Amino acid sequence: MKGVILAGGIGSRLRPLTRVTNKHLLPVHRQPMIYYPIQTLINAGIDDIMIVTGGNSAGDFLKLLGNGKNFGLKHLNYTYQDGNRGIADALELVEHFVGDELICVILGDNIIEGNICSARNDFEKQGNGAKILLKRVERPQRFGVPVFEENTIVRIEEKPETPKSDLAVIGIYFYDPTVFDVIRGLEPSARGELEITDVNNHYISQEKMTWNKLDGWWTDAGTFESLLFASNLVADTGANNLSLRMSG
Ligand code: DAU
Repeated sequence: MKGVILAGGIGSRLRPLTRVTNKHLLPVHRQPMIYYPIQTLINAGIDDIMIVTGGNSAGDFLKLLGNGKNFGLKHLNYTYQDGNRGIADALELVEHFVGDELICVILGDNIIEGNICSARNDFEKQGNGAKILLKRVERPQRFGVPVFEENTIVRIEEKPETPKSDLAVIGIYFYDPTVFDVIRGLEPSARGELEITDVNNHYISQEKMTWNKLDGWWTDAGTFESLLFASNLVADTGANNLSLRMSG
């Protein structure tokens, strides 16, 4: 399985912190934000990874991460997204890297306490289609929110004013390689982006979407409130089930 970390976009909700640098290079407690999704993939046994960067300071990813040696990787792949046309637009850039393999996609500002090993194993058994991970949250309005009928997800609503559940679709997704055909069929949303929720709704309409609940805490770090929250969670409890070995 290939791993993809989406670290493009312009981080507008964190201005002025993101005026000169990329959001995913900002600190979360003692590590740059991008360290956490990299470690999440590695902990799940996924070591063939591409980072999609973009916006400001894209070259600083190379300076920080190099070939991934400090994470025990032999190599890291990078690509660059022009503009901020959405999560699905960033994902489309990795088609040549993925080939005919399954993929695990992580948004670069998503941090988890535990690991995604069981979800990875479940998706490998599933073999095609897609899988999302859900987590109960206090303010689902900020996220993609599943709508259930019985125990089945019938659609996902992106940032609904009146959420139909208190679950968020977190920013860790599993797809088969047909995801790139799905993305090519998308139209930009009202905010001008190719939405990952539209990709997920496509798989739901084809009855090819499964879901797992994530154990342990999860947060994004894309707003001032959540960036502080993430730093405090990591400081109090650690993340990724380990203390990272990187110090310098
Ligand atoms: O964090 C989970 C949520 O992430 C999901 O519940 C939502 O369904 C999903 O749409 C997304 O919502 P956000 O509004 O939080 O997404 P945001 O625009 O903050 O982008 C999240 C990451 O995706 C960002 O850290 C980098 C990457 N990204 C985003 C955009 C817009 C890109 O690589 N390129 C982009 O153009």
